[in-house]
Amino acid sequence: MKPAARLDGLGLSPIRMMNLGAPPDAISLGLGEPTWPLPAAASRALASSGNDCSYGPNAGIPELRGAVAAFHGVSPDRVMLTAGSQGALFALFQAWAGPGSEVLVPDPGFLAYPVLARLAGAVPVPYQLGPGGNLDADSFMAVLASHPRATLAIINHPGNPCGGGATAASLARVAEACRNADILLVSDEVYRELYTGDRPPSLLEVADYGLVLSSVSKAWGAPGLRVGWAIGDPALLEPARLVHNFMTTAAARPSQQAALALVADSATVIPEARAALRARWNALEAALLSNLGIHAVPPAGAFYYWLPLPREAHADPLSFCLKVRDEGRVIIVPGLAFGERGRPFARISFAGTPEDLNEGIKRLAPYFACH
Ligand SMILES: Cc1ncc(COP(=O)(O)O)c(C=O)c1O
Repeated sequence: MKPAARLDGLGLSPIRMMNLGAPPDAISLGLGEPTWPLPAAASRALASSGNDCSYGPNAGIPELRGAVAAFHGVSPDRVMLTAGSQGALFALFQAWAGPGSEVLVPDPGFLAYPVLARLAGAVPVPYQLGPGGNLDADSFMAVLASHPRATLAIINHPGNPCGGGATAASLARVAEACRNADILLVSDEVYRELYTGDRPPSLLEVADYGLVLSSVSKAWGAPGLRVGWAIGDPALLEPARLVHNFMTTAAARPSQQAALALVADSATVIPEARAALRARWNALEAALLSNLGIHAVPPAGAFYYWLPLPREAHADPLSFCLKVRDEGRVIIVPGLAFGERGRPFARISFAGTPEDLNEGIKRLAPYFACH
């Protein structure tokens, strides 16, 4: 027996691969999930979630839809609740991309995007990000213009893996271009609330076109709840909602209750998350300077730092990162995992504790001696 052909070439994500088989005392600067404590609002809601484990409505519990709608300043019919933003991505790709179509994805970009395009039977088409991993509207539009078969385009800001952002003007241009080309624009904004400088703009603020994704996984500190959402025109959400219904019926009800408590308590939860992020950034910035001599510029948002690799590592970044992991006992993710343009870099997650960041960067130093 052989699995379906669309799974050809699909393996374990390189992020998980870097963790599997790592020395037990390795410090992980690899995984993209918060390490600050789960906010009290969620712990309380989980403890008192009671005995209601019924399926609940396909569209999610109305209270959570209402809270998410209020948070984003939209009406509840513009909210689709999903099993993580990953659930929204899967459903949207299935609904809006298929055999014969192409999907524009950022390079370097979140590694699920090209995989989800292939699982939908479509072809991922990378577009280049600008310096710092920022959205470059010109490069996006050039790729859009030369790919008339595109039906879907993804932007991600602040972005994984570089922490790059998007200006309001570039978002507006990209949205207008997608509208004119009649392709669906999805703006993945799961990291939007995690920043140390200015608040990144949302597509929702600058254009009345496209869908916006978020979840409780990052700024609300609860990735294991698996609750996310897509916001936008109900007619564009509807086909994806059908896919999501057949895929998983609805996000788990106790998780939705906890997500409700988190979103309702955003005024406390999010500033606390930003303070935790700030402490981690400060630790990383100081460690990069004292151990590697790098004057680091903070990313537009998210908890990723895009570290240039020594030149001799460019030919085989995976072997270099495995050596750093096995000998140096620190896990970093080769940028190549996020697309060919990531080859000369590694992604460092600063979602870990300040202590781990400090020790982890110290352990990296011997391998970056030429910098
Ligand atoms: C850019 C981006 N989008 C979406 C996700 C999926 O997050 P979740 O499904 O937990 O909302 C991630 C997770 O790391 C991510 O980095």
